[in-house]
Formats: sequence, C-alpha cells, structure tokens
Amino acid sequence: MTEENRALGTPLGKHPTRVLFLGSGELGKEVIIELMRLGAWVCAADSYTGAPAQQVAHEYRVLDMANATELRALFDEIKPDIIVPEVEAIATSELAAAAEHGAQVVPSAEIAAICMDRERLRVLAHEELGLPTTPYRFAGSLEELRAGAEIVGYPCVVKPIMSSSGHGQSVVRSADAIDAAWTEAQEGRRAHDEGDVSRVIVEALAPLDYELTVLTVSSSAGIVTCSPIGQRQESGDYRESWQPASFTQDVLAQAQHIARTAVEGLVAKARKSGEKGWGVFGVELFVLINGSVLFNEVSPRPHDTGMVTMMSQRLSEFALHARAILGLPITQEHVALSIPEGTVAASHAIVVQGNGEVEFRNVATALSKPGTDLRIFAKPEVHGHRRMAVALAIGSDAADARAKAGNVAESLEIDIA
Ligand SMILES: Nc1ncnc2c1ncn2[C@@H]1O[C@H](COP(=O)(O)OP(=O)(O)OP(=O)(O)O)[C@@H](O)[C@H]1O
Ligand SMILES: [Mg+2]
Repeated sequence: MTEENRALGTPLGKHPTRVLFLGSGELGKEVIIELMRLGAWVCAADSYTGAPAQQVAHEYRVLDMANATELRALFDEIKPDIIVPEVEAIATSELAAAAEHGAQVVPSAEIAAICMDRERLRVLAHEELGLPTTPYRFAGSLEELRAGAEIVGYPCVVKPIMSSSGHGQSVVRSADAIDAAWTEAQEGRRAHDEGDVSRVIVEALAPLDYELTVLTVSSSAGIVTCSPIGQRQESGDYRESWQPASFTQDVLAQAQHIARTAVEGLVAKARKSGEKGWGVFGVELFVLINGSVLFNEVSPRPHDTGMVTMMSQRLSEFALHARAILGLPITQEHVALSIPEGTVAASHAIVVQGNGEVEFRNVATALSKPGTDLRIFAKPEVHGHRRMAVALAIGSDAADARAKAGNVAESLEIDIA
C-alpha cells in the first residue's frame, strides 16, 4: 500500500487507514465526518473529554499534547498512519520523530513547526519567498523591542512569536506604551508557565481596507486556490465571513499569487524532508487602502473563516482537507463555488458568554427560511466567551447573506444552565 493508495472502507477491519487528530475542536469535527464518509478509522485527542470531534470519532483520548512523553505514548499506542495537528500547542519534536518513523504528519512536521512560529513563518514568507508584508522586526528583550519599534514606526503591533487568537497582542501608539506591550506579550504567549522569555515580533500597523482568507489546497494533483473569503474580525477572533468576497481583478491576482507562493514555499520544505505537504491552508491577507495586498500569516489547516464553505462549495474546506490528506487529487474544478452565479454565502459565529452548559432552543424558527443552515458544535460547557455554533446562509449579495446568517443567530434562544 502506498500513501497515494490507502485502503479505505474497513475502519473496524484488519488494516484500516488510521487517522489521529491532535485537537478535537469544531473544525476537526467536520474533517472527521468527511474522513468517516470515506471509510477511514479516526481517533480524536484533546486535553479534555467531550470535545466536539471526540463525539464523532471511533475512539478518543485525553492528554496534554504539549507534553512530549504523553504524546509519544499516544503515538506508540495508536500507531497512526496519518497525524492531523488541529491546534498549535503540540510538542513539535514528537511530530518530527513520528514523521521520521513513517507517519504522514499533516501537512508535514516542519510546516506545523514553521506556522506556529511567527518568526520562522515571516522569514520564509518575506525574506525567502519575497512576499510583501508590513515592516517588522523581532526582539528578545525590552531594549530590542524599543529599537525595533523605532524602526517600523508608530503605531505598531507587538505579538508573541508563539500565540494565536490575538493572545498577548497589543497595538502601541507611542514609545511610552512599549513596556506594557512587552509585558502583555510575555503574559499572553503560549508557554507562559515556562521560564524563558518569549521573543516577539513588532510590526507596523497596516492601513487596512479589509482582510481576506484564501483557502489553498495542496494535494497529489498540485496546488489550487479557492475563491477569497471576506471577513469581520473582532477582538482577535472572526465574527462573520462571506464568499466570494468583492475585490478588484488586481486584488484577486495579488491575493492568488501570494497564497500560492506561500503554500508552494511551505510544501517545498516538506518535500525536502521527504514529507507530503498535503492539506488545506488558510492564507490570511491584508488588503490596504491603497489596493496593495500583504501576506499576514497562514494556518496549515482549515481556517475558521472557511466555515462558510459548508454553504458555498460542493466540497467544503473540510471535505477538501480529508481528500487531500488521503492522497486524493484536488483540481481547480474541485474547489469551485457551487452557489448560483451572483449569489454570496455567509457564516456568522455564535459566541456565547456565561458559565455552564449551553442549550439551543427555537432552532425551528431560526432555520425556517430556506437557504439557511446551522452547525452546533456541542461543546460541553462555556466559561467566559466561547464559540459554540455557526449560522450559515446564502443571499443575493454579501449584505443579504450576512443579514440572513445574523438572523439565524439572533432567532436562537440560547440558555446557559
Ligand atoms: N500589522 C497589523 N496591522 C493591522 N492589523 C493587524 C496587524 N496585525 C494583526 N492585525 C489584526 O489582528 C488580527 C489578528 O492578528 P494575527 O492574525 O497576526 O494573529 P493571531 O493571533 O494569529 O490571530 P488568529 O489566530 O485569530 O488568526 C488580524 O486578523 C488583524 O485584524
Ligand atoms: Mg491570524
């Protein structure tokens, strides 16, 4: 059996294709459903029991995935053919070891390590691949940060090298606020309980017109890009997305070029170490007021703004990811929009605030209009803010689709008990 020709259809038989998810959130849940439809065996791991993807997998495990010893024991027990990191906080040394022992790490062990490290990713994108980015410097101390901020200029943004969802980030408007940004970055970084100082990136605040995600798929048939997704971000998290976004031909050409070049560069690294580099990537782009497009960062997995593709594409980003990692070919035709010409699809994140179990009622009213849909993630509890569901809709234009998805969300009665 080659990796391009995996055995499917006997998940409970003697030689199933065994897929292990590291992280069991709502995005992984959808990918697992797609893998199950193609007859793979799936185990979903996370740090707690009852995570969304664990509820749809054949088996699940609970462990600290940042702990190398625990992760190694999991690999030894499960013996996965394919390992799918769904979160960034994973002991990446163990991913590399697993890849060396023949497991297919998605998209590759090195890509996972590069993309969780803003410094390695930015150096690759700008300094090796020549992609346009906002001016930046890296700093390992408060003094270096001060010097870096002077070079990129104010206002600037300070981010820990390792963090996600806006944690530890701050916008700095003048030199007086640099100390606070350094402290914020040290506290918000991923491994804040470890002793070391976290390096940071300081970058110029880009004069944004809007932001785009270009889902880019690397498969056995090469690299293709999906239609760009527009979005609204709020406090570090996406709230609404829509596809296709409206853009000029010039912006589209720049966006496609940046997305393709970034993913080609990453996949080339994977190939060098004998890995596949297959999977969906979410390339985040800034479109500036002057119409130029900058590379921001890339997720080596389906992107949360891409949930809209459950409405807009016959093969959602989750179906595309499942196919790509199994070695199936994805061509430009596979990623085409499947909504009628001229229409737009939208997603609206349902973020719930409170403490306890979250019950959704009034779903009948919420979904009474045709052209609407809902995914309830079934997370066991909320403590503070948590994205618990997503509303989807199709409309005559972006405003109409967003309004319809927003109506679905608003019609829900959400009880926290
Ligand atoms: N240099 C910048 N100029 C303007 N806006 C920025 C800049 N950097 C970040 N932002 C804003 O903050 C958001 C989050 O930044 P970024 O994507 O770098 O961080 P993140 O923590 O990886 O976020 P996520 O995990 O949600 O993608 C961006 O989508 C953008 O809205
Ligand atoms: Mg981002």
